[in-house]
Amino acid sequence: MHVATLEHQVDFDGWRKAARTFRLAGISPEQTAFRVGAAVGGLFDEAAALPATEPAFSAPKAFVDLAREVILHRSADRFDLMYRLLWRLRDESDLMHVASDVDVADALERAKNVSRASHKMKAFVRFRQVVDDTGDAWVAWFEPAHFVLEKTAPFFMRRFANMRWSILTPDGSAIWDEDALTFGPPATRDMAPAEDEIEEFWKTYYASTFNPARLKTRTMQGEMAKRYWKNLPEAQLIPELVAASSVRTEAMVAAPAAEPNLRLAKTLSRMNRDHSFEEGFVPSTLDELGHAVQACRRCLLWRDATQGVCGQGLRKAKLMIVGEQPGDQEDLAGQPFVGPAGQVLDAALEEAGIDRDDAFVTNAVKHFKHTPRGKRRIHQTPVTSEISACRWWLDAERRLVKPKVVVTLGATAALGVLNRRVAVTKERGQPLALADGSTALLTVHPSYLLRLPDEASRASERERFVADLKQVRTLL
Ligand code: URA
Repeated sequence: MHVATLEHQVDFDGWRKAARTFRLAGISPEQTAFRVGAAVGGLFDEAAALPATEPAFSAPKAFVDLAREVILHRSADRFDLMYRLLWRLRDESDLMHVASDVDVADALERAKNVSRASHKMKAFVRFRQVVDDTGDAWVAWFEPAHFVLEKTAPFFMRRFANMRWSILTPDGSAIWDEDALTFGPPATRDMAPAEDEIEEFWKTYYASTFNPARLKTRTMQGEMAKRYWKNLPEAQLIPELVAASSVRTEAMVAAPAAEPNLRLAKTLSRMNRDHSFEEGFVPSTLDELGHAVQACRRCLLWRDATQGVCGQGLRKAKLMIVGEQPGDQEDLAGQPFVGPAGQVLDAALEEAGIDRDDAFVTNAVKHFKHTPRGKRRIHQTPVTSEISACRWWLDAERRLVKPKVVVTLGATAALGVLNRRVAVTKERGQPLALADGSTALLTVHPSYLLRLPDEASRASERERFVADLKQVRTLL
């Protein structure tokens, strides 16, 4: 048995070096083992001493990119799995394209879990303020499901560039001093402060964005698994909020927009490459589509957005609701219609007897188009070329969800779905047959209702909007 000793849990370079040496020396997976820990004359000595008996090779990029992700998985056998794949590539050069292969499928699944863990970390890290001699600093305690600290810390660096912060985890710590990002040793929970005033901020924020009309306890726990609750100040509010009545739309409308955020940088992962330009690439799942859109370069809107926001909801929904583009809050949350327009939409759907969770809600354009004004980001309507560029994603969502009815909210959505300019006021409420056999129904955008100047027109337009949605029900 040849044992490779890696320096730490995410020692990709060490694994790659050892795997390359083993492969060149013709050592099969059954004869190898990878361990993490201090090398006792182990890996590098042993591997370096192995003579090459096989011809030089180069691993496909898809494999290397996948290996980088899988190595972050918390399973002990991840290094063995990737070496087995590398070994098999010798005789099966096409292996990475065989998604049904047990090893490939296993690796892809682990990469997906890693990506999900990184996403959860971005969503659920909560900093607490500490004050020391040199001023304010922010500390968070987090227990990631996989070894995603190094992968995810750059996200916080970009987002909180002007703050000194540390993220402490049982695997290691990340420290940003406004200048450099460094990684330190594992930490324990008691090293992070337990409470501060910022808790109140989070609770207020959460209470003002929580929408009881959309509450599905099981879905919520799926997204925000209980393992994360103990570090989330706002989680203490959940029982109370579940019992409480809905938040008022006007308060949300009046709330200032969040500060602009830097866009997510391109990650190294294979999944985040822009597949959409690769000949023949068709996302085969909504998850795959959600990953791929993060690297979309079909137009320039990605540059100023935090992230691409894909549709959400029931995967095989009979009803697809298409809006214009994510707004300020959607851009930050990565979910469609969670801001003020979403509140109006939710209330109208409820009144029309449609459960939003039975629908798939998306937008014609996946990135937030805006212009800065001070600290605010002011919405800008996407132009035709941007809507056309993004139709590729909308069409892919339609192919995957296969809705029976597609409701378009406003002119941009109608153009995205119908691929022609329409006067919504003229064609509103008339079912239109689409090429894929589904039916489109046009109506106004909920933010149009928010912009109406007087109470009377708001009430009557809202009534018409609800009537349109009731008509949708008859088509389902
Ligand atoms: N407006 C939209 O059209 N879509 C959203 O997701 C939010 C606001």
